[in-house]
Amino acid sequence: MARLSVIGAGYLGVTHAVCMAHLGHDVIVIDTDANRIETLKNGVVPFHEPELSELLAKTLASEKITFTTSWNDVAASADIHFLCVGTPQKAGSHAADLSQVDNATTSLAQHLSGPALVVGKSTVPVGTAARLAYELKTTCGEDVHLVWNPEFLREGFAVQDTLHPDRIVLGVSHQSDVAALEAVYAATLSDGTPLLVTDYATAELVKVAANAFLATKISFINAFADLADATGADVTQLADAIGHDTRIGRRFLNAGVGFGGGCLPKDIRALQARATELGLAEKFAFLTAVDDINKSRKHTVVERVLESLDGDLNHKVISVLGAAFKPDSDDIRDSPALHVAEMLAEGGAKVRIHDPEASKILKTRETAFAVCDTIDEVLANADVVVHLTEWAVYREIDPAHAASLVNNPIMIDGRNVLDKTRWTNAGWTISYLGKPGS
Ligand code: UGA
Repeated sequence: MARLSVIGAGYLGVTHAVCMAHLGHDVIVIDTDANRIETLKNGVVPFHEPELSELLAKTLASEKITFTTSWNDVAASADIHFLCVGTPQKAGSHAADLSQVDNATTSLAQHLSGPALVVGKSTVPVGTAARLAYELKTTCGEDVHLVWNPEFLREGFAVQDTLHPDRIVLGVSHQSDVAALEAVYAATLSDGTPLLVTDYATAELVKVAANAFLATKISFINAFADLADATGADVTQLADAIGHDTRIGRRFLNAGVGFGGGCLPKDIRALQARATELGLAEKFAFLTAVDDINKSRKHTVVERVLESLDGDLNHKVISVLGAAFKPDSDDIRDSPALHVAEMLAEGGAKVRIHDPEASKILKTRETAFAVCDTIDEVLANADVVVHLTEWAVYREIDPAHAASLVNNPIMIDGRNVLDKTRWTNAGWTISYLGKPGS
């Protein structure tokens, strides 16, 4: 079994570290945030992700995972170091902020004293790996190599995606480094997971190309949702029908309020910024349309609310179901649900919001809306209900009971998943984004 370090105890780092420890490797995790490290040492995962808490408890008990804030510990305890720090959008720009990647690489390099493998997993602009490899060589000499190994995990499925990914991509400059990572991922590879060995630039581009493609698919179907609304067509049936063509595929063709989160929005902007630096602005202009269509989805929901209230939001009670950017996550970064809630509150409405997991986080912040603990509480006296994150609990709401709580039984389903017959039979008027409502 290998001795690994994971640098960065964020979403990616914690998941990767816990899964690698679960596979039997000895893993040490470092983060500059001492509180976060303490929390993890105590067995608490600082975000919501199915299966992760159980695996952390198991791997802590078996002493396969340890946490530290000391680079000396990291250098002494591991031979392979995974860079899992964040690359958020730079303030005032569409480009990625690489300061965490740069600081982590510099700190690690200063502490390495023998042969080591550094493995980049963060999402970075193409060209970053070559630059970091040069820095490592300059500081540490020929014995420290860099591999670029992008991560494709989805929040809500992070453990499964880490243990059983669709593929493993290794961008290398020395073919001899492949064997060490084949050993780290031996259990996964033995399942038949495809392994693709590439150069650095290709590995970096695979990641951003995948996210750009997924974002484009969502904005594509959302543009058709508007066309469906303009013509009386049904975008869900349209997606089902084109999705049967295996060249297209049905996944990521769910129309609605659009994509959010810490990845797709910032990754398409960073890709476009990098392509522009490389003189390819025109070729990547389509990503502006992808981003703009996505931004417009929130306005579409707000317009729908306005229509249902004869154009007047003032003092109307609007109940928002969902705050996280997707179900089975408490991540509210760039969340479409929150953007809509904020726009409605700015327009003068009394907004109430509920989310099975993200409510806890919202309660620690100053918000322009009331955060509710229960579905009954959020529905009380609503003039309009807006469904924006497709948690299973919202599909299971009893429409008759819900109707007894609200002021007006009007539902706007921004995720196109609530059953029209069930809701209309209970007296609701329901509308969707891109398919006929009642
Ligand atoms: C995304 C990618 O799916 C992962 O492969 C990638 O590793 C990750 O970003 C990353 O770069 O780290 P994630 O952000 O967890 O994963 O979320 P997705 O499942 O991709 O959903 C993104 C957004 O698109 C959500 O707001 C979701 O509601 C929305 N979405 C998704 C739609 O509006 N329609 C769909 O059909 C699918």
